[in-house]
Amino acid sequence: MQKTRMIIACLLISTSAIAAEKDSRQILALSEAQRGHVLEEMRALLSGTRNILAALSTDDMASVAKHAHPLGLGMAHKAEDHLKGVLPKEFMQLGMSLHQDFDQIAVDAESKKDSKLTLRQLSDAMTKCVACHDAYQIRTTPASGQPAQAQGHQHHHHDSHPK
Ligand code: HEC
Repeated sequence: MQKTRMIIACLLISTSAIAAEKDSRQILALSEAQRGHVLEEMRALLSGTRNILAALSTDDMASVAKHAHPLGLGMAHKAEDHLKGVLPKEFMQLGMSLHQDFDQIAVDAESKKDSKLTLRQLSDAMTKCVACHDAYQIRTTPASGQPAQAQGHQHHHHDSHPK
């Protein structure tokens, strides 16, 4: 009896763990190339953020500005051509606002040279990384960007009747 209860409890725990792991974030349906572009930008954001932290640890505010600047709005304009109209408005706005934050970080690092201020700005900006990752996932659509061809390749069932 005790043993049966244990087994049932274990089953319940493992099913709820599986349910929790299901990725229910909003899906962005992108082509391989578009996905590659977004993820490349993401890796640049991660390594840029790391470089800013390294510069902050030695109070090298010129280097903070140097690494923050490329993550600013200039980065967003470069990506615009590839992704125009593909990503939801809310996603774009969150991204733009993050790029603006990095421009501000660069400007203030140069003029105010206050590492504590930069740390606060960076930690505030990174709430946007967290918020966006909580909300979205990317899935690739194999035929995206190409005209639908499927119909031309369909079998003609009527041809197969015996002669
Ligand atoms: C506007 C939305 C958005 C913002 C803001 C954002 N990301 Fe992302 N990021 C994404 C999405 C979407 C993915 C893909 C997630 C998935 O498909 O599971 C991603 C993936 C990544 C990846 C994985 C890259 C790879 O090659 O697989 C890294 C690293 C990353 N983001 C870092 C960051 C960092 C650091 C920040 C903030 C400085 C940030 N992101 C801000 C949307 C965003």
